Amino acid sequence: MILVTGGAGFIGSNFILGWLGRTDEPVINLDLLTYAGNPANLAAVAAHPRYAFHRGDIGDQALVESVLQGGDVRAIVHFAAESHVDRSIHGPDAFVQTNVVGTFRLLEAARRHWQSLPAGRRDGFRFLHVSTDEVYGSLRPDAPPFRETDRYEPNSPYSASKAASDHLVRSYHHTYGLPVVTTNCSNNYGPYQFPEKLIPLCIHNALAGKPLPIYGDGRQIRDWLYVADHCTAIERVLADGRPGETYNIGGWNEQPNIDVVRSLCAILDEEQPRSGGGGYAEQITYVKDRPGHDRRYAIDARKIERELGWRPAETFATGIRKTIRWYLGHGDWVASVVSGGYREWVDRQYGQ
Ligand code: NAD
Ligand code: DAU
Repeated sequence: MILVTGGAGFIGSNFILGWLGRTDEPVINLDLLTYAGNPANLAAVAAHPRYAFHRGDIGDQALVESVLQGGDVRAIVHFAAESHVDRSIHGPDAFVQTNVVGTFRLLEAARRHWQSLPAGRRDGFRFLHVSTDEVYGSLRPDAPPFRETDRYEPNSPYSASKAASDHLVRSYHHTYGLPVVTTNCSNNYGPYQFPEKLIPLCIHNALAGKPLPIYGDGRQIRDWLYVADHCTAIERVLADGRPGETYNIGGWNEQPNIDVVRSLCAILDEEQPRSGGGGYAEQITYVKDRPGHDRRYAIDARKIERELGWRPAETFATGIRKTIRWYLGHGDWVASVVSGGYREWVDRQYGQ
């Protein structure tokens, strides 16, 4: 079986749903259920015979070791993290604690588990670390997209904490031989994304008649990838990625933020026209920029295509329409997340 950390978050829950549908291997989900972790994302598989959930902190090494020993774990897929750049600017502590110290504790538990495996099973073990393109810093307008060999230049407390975790993961391979693989992916969008991130925030605000906040001039560029494509890329890396290697994952889809939000408004105009008339783009509002805002990210995803045969299945046009339809069809999920209603349920169900 595999152990997934952070499986109740956005990408982790999409990964688990896909995994249970596409493979016959059991999965254990270890998640602390912070504000970003929502068990409702996995309601459809809560009673699945191949799914088990543990509420806990990746920084609790004894707990992680007991979970690893209790199951016959052959791989760890590590999503758990504090993931929102703006939150890292307001309060970096949790980012260092979870992304750096937590990953360190998880690596220690993984190393002990791996060393306890029979010799014949050690080579097959994998620690897959899910990381971000933000570790490479900001690209000039004419610079080529990020390659795996680019140097690290993280600019926010979030990206610095992810960069630190990448380095720790790398060192566990180099020093101890732990079979690790790291993925560095661009901006994801899709179902179950917490409405603090640009796309779900703008869908929610548009429908609620609120402003769509665009930081600065809105010309910052991101590469956007539909979340299910990120999940299939991770599956490919887990299956055939070479230990010690890193793989960039991206959508070949660079766009300025303002274009993303305008496209989203145009699709909403078709799918659910504004009750008072006019277009949703009228709600676009330019606001104060994010401090230290990276200007451009772009991913060169040729290595994963060449070595593992992966390319995204969705274009931005197909992925964003699917995403908008999902949000339109899941108003209850959004309402519960925005009101914090699911937190009350988490506290009742799992305790403080
Ligand atoms: P998310 O914030 O939606 O989910 C994070 C999950 O981790 C939550 O379920 C949370 O409860 C859990 N968690 C947090 N701290 C924990 C701890 N100490 N112990 C156990 N669980 C804990 O994040 P996401 O957007 O799904 O991102 C998942 C991973 O992918 C992160 O490592 C992130 O850096 C990386 N990533 C995200 C994107 C993106 O666009 N969202 C892109 C590239 C890489
Ligand atoms: O590149 C991968 C990263 O993508 C992941 O590692 C992070 O976990 C993920 O949060 C995301 O980071 P970004 O900072 O790029 O995502 P966010 O959705 O917060 O912002 C996307 C862009 O939109 C960014 O340039 C900031 C801008 N923005 C964001 C918000 C929330 C706005 O203009 N207005 C907003 O209200």
